[in-house]
Amino acid sequence: MVVRKRFKIACIGAGNVGATVAQYCAEMELGDVVLTDIVEGLAQGKALDLTQAGSIRGYGSMVTGTNDYADIAGSDVCVVAAGLPRRPGMSRLDLLEKNGAIIVDICEMIAQYAPDSVVIVVTNPLDVMTFAAFTKLQFPPGRVIGMAGCLDSARLRAFVALELGVNMKNVEAMVLGSHGDYMVPLPQYTTVSGVPVTQLLQPDHIDAIVERTRKGGGEIVALLKTGSAFYAPGACVAQLIQSIVRDEKQLLPCSAYLTGQYDLSDLYVGVPVRLGKNGVEEILELPLSDEQRAALHKSAEEVRVGIAGLRERNIL
Ligand SMILES: NC(=O)c1ccc[n+]([C@@H]2O[C@H](COP(=O)([O-])OP(=O)(O)OC[C@H]3O[C@@H](n4cnc5c(N)ncnc54)[C@H](O)[C@@H]3O)[C@@H](O)[C@H]2O)c1
Repeated sequence: MVVRKRFKIACIGAGNVGATVAQYCAEMELGDVVLTDIVEGLAQGKALDLTQAGSIRGYGSMVTGTNDYADIAGSDVCVVAAGLPRRPGMSRLDLLEKNGAIIVDICEMIAQYAPDSVVIVVTNPLDVMTFAAFTKLQFPPGRVIGMAGCLDSARLRAFVALELGVNMKNVEAMVLGSHGDYMVPLPQYTTVSGVPVTQLLQPDHIDAIVERTRKGGGEIVALLKTGSAFYAPGACVAQLIQSIVRDEKQLLPCSAYLTGQYDLSDLYVGVPVRLGKNGVEEILELPLSDEQRAALHKSAEEVRVGIAGLRERNIL
């Protein structure tokens, strides 16, 4: 009899995103999940609720909740979805400082209790927080990943499918760059069953879809009024975890540490990566137009400003 390893997945931050990651991981039976939060009872309550859903949804993954980091010991994957949202009157730099401090604290705990894990950062501003985690953890760069490009790509895929009236499953897309206003959607690598979307939609329609993708997070924030997206972000994190724990080697856009690829180095930004049991196993360099290359560099510049902000405030 082949006994499969039971993976352990820590979700740090049991808010909307963390709990949704836990739910999808349990439903996909990717491993046992430990939800962690600083708020007393929050992680425990959600974990119990998810456990009670198991018999109906048909999963055997264990979901537990805790306020004690010792319980993440030995995790194979740690998801960092803890942080504050930007509140009215709070500048980007204020958010950077507050979430940066949270990430640094959490990474100390991950380094202590789960030193062999692959770490997936979700907290915004994403690329800067992933760099902060990498700096603090001192793990090999492939074991620290930021989730964003696959969410931006999922949004682009959904909008293309809605525009063409085709099944979402037939649409593939690639979005590079930093998560936010400077993302770089690549229409030439966006296809419907292998057909480039540039052959199916007029340029002005593609431009409108790209613009909606760029503002995809804001559109949801405006509708929700409080809080931000969590179903699609949670689904994307679960997809990354699946590729890691099952060593599937999926090719996905993630925020990865660059060492000269795309003429960029010593920062995290969204690029296509091959994701397997060791985290990022390869960064792919796609041919880009001059305009897209310039946009990627502009994106990287924005990330560097954030990193400098953290250094000025002595968080890194
Ligand atoms: N990368 C992406 O594409 C993407 C997508 C969606 C959300 N986000 C980001 O993910 C983060 C979480 O979003 P959310 O909607 O789940 O927010 P949320 O407010 O619902 O949850 C955040 C949770 O973090 C907890 N927390 C705060 N400090 C902590 C600490 N030191 N240790 C453990 N837990 C702590 C809070 O108690 C809260 O439960 C935000 O920064 C958000 O901007 C990123």
